[in-house]
Amino acid sequence: MKRTVTIMSLFALRVAAQASPGLPFVINTWGGPFTAATDAAYLSLQRPTTSALDAVEIGCSTCEKNQCDGSVGFGGSPDEDCETTLDAMIMDGTTMKSGNVAGLRRIKDAIAVARHVLEYTTHTLLAGDLATQFAVSNGFALSNLTTTEQTKRCAAWREEHCQPNYRINVSPDPKTSCGPYTGVALNSSSPVYQRGLIPDGSQTSHDTISMISIHSSGTMAAGTSTNGATWKVPGRVGDGPITGSGSYVDGDVGGCGATGDGDIMMRFLPCYQAVENLRQGMSPKAAAEDAVKRILRKYPDGSYGIVVVDKDGQHGGAGAGWTFTYAFRGGNMNATEVVSVPPLTEARRSESETVMQA
Ligand SMILES: *[C@@H]1O[C@H](CO)[C@@H](O)[C@H](O)[C@H]1NC(C)=O
Ligand SMILES: *[C@@H]1O[C@H](CO)[C@@H](O)[C@H](O)[C@H]1NC(C)=O
Ligand SMILES: *[C@@H]1O[C@H](CO)[C@@H](O)[C@H](O)[C@H]1NC(C)=O
Repeated sequence: MKRTVTIMSLFALRVAAQASPGLPFVINTWGGPFTAATDAAYLSLQRPTTSALDAVEIGCSTCEKNQCDGSVGFGGSPDEDCETTLDAMIMDGTTMKSGNVAGLRRIKDAIAVARHVLEYTTHTLLAGDLATQFAVSNGFALSNLTTTEQTKRCAAWREEHCQPNYRINVSPDPKTSCGPYTGVALNSSSPVYQRGLIPDGSQTSHDTISMISIHSSGTMAAGTSTNGATWKVPGRVGDGPITGSGSYVDGDVGGCGATGDGDIMMRFLPCYQAVENLRQGMSPKAAAEDAVKRILRKYPDGSYGIVVVDKDGQHGGAGAGWTFTYAFRGGNMNATEVVSVPPLTEARRSESETVMQA
C-alpha cells in the first residue's frame, strides 16, 4: 500500500498543467488533419455572435465535411455490410444538457442533428433509423454515405475472409471466415470463460474528433463526432455519443474529450471521471492520467487518448497504446499548436508491480 502511494506521488511531480493561452479557447483530440477543425472553431469565436456550442458544432462539422483522417463523417469506417453510420454528441456546460445521435444512417451532418436533439427535444439520445427520420423532419438531406473508394475496400475485405472483425465465440471461426455467424454455447462457471471475452489486442481504426470550447465570457461546450469502428457489427454504437465517455463538460470545472477503443472506454466513462478529478483539485494532466489508468488496470492492451481542459484553459492529456496528440488554440495565438502525449507505459509497469506485491 505504501509503495502505491510513493509511485503515485512521484508521478504527480511531473504532471504540471500546461498554461492557458487565454480565452477564447478551443481544444480537440488529434493534430494533423484535425487542426482544420481547431482553426474553424477558434476563428468562429472571434465573431461576437458565436457561442461556445456554435464553435463546437462548427469545429466538428469541419471534420464531417472534409473527413479529417477518414474517421469522421461519410465514406469511412464501414460496417460488415459496408454501410457508414455516424455517432455524435454536443453538450452545453452551463445547463449540462446533451444532445446525442447514435447509429445515424444516410445523413452526413451528425453533430448538427445532435444539436437539434439538444435544442428541440427534452431527450438526450436518438438512435438509428428513427434518428434519421427526426433529422429529415428537421430539414436535413438524405444522402449516400458510401463512396466508390469504400465499396472497393469492402470487396477487398471480403476477399481476405472478412479479416479483421469484432466477432468472438462464434461459428464458423471468425479468425478465418466471413459470416453469417452463430454463437457457440458458453459456460460462465468455467475458469476459461472470462478469458474468452477479452479482446486479444487493440483494434485498428478508432480515431474520433472530440472538442471542448471556452467562449470569451467563460461559458463552455463539448462535442464528439465519429463514424465509429471499421468492420463493426452492424448496429454497433461506440463511446462517441455517450455523455461522459465521448466528451463531457461542466462549465464550473472544465471539459474532456476522448478517442480510442470506444467499446472499452465507454465502460469507464473516462471523461466524466476526468472532469470529476478536476473538481477534486487535480491538474488537467493528472486528471487525464488517472482516468486512463483506471482503464489500463483492466484492459492494458488497448489504445486510448483523452484531452482535459479546466475552465481557465489550462490543459493536459493522457494516452496509452499509441502516441496520442491533441490540438489547441486560444487567446491571441496565430496558429493551432499540437501537443504530443507519450503513452503511459511507466504507469502500466507501476500498476503491475503493485498488483504483484498485493
Ligand atoms: C451508394 O454509393 C455507392 C458507391 O457509389 C454504391 O455502390 C451504392 O450502391 C449506393 N447506395 C445506394 C443505396 O444508392
Ligand atoms: C461448466 O464449468 C463448470 C466448472 O468448470 C463445470 O463443473 C460444469 O460441469 C460445466 N458445465 C457444463 C454444462 O459443461
Ligand atoms: C500574431 O501575429 C501578429 C502579426 O504578425 C504579431 O504581431 C503577434 O505578435 C503574433 N501573436 C502571437 C501570439 O504570436
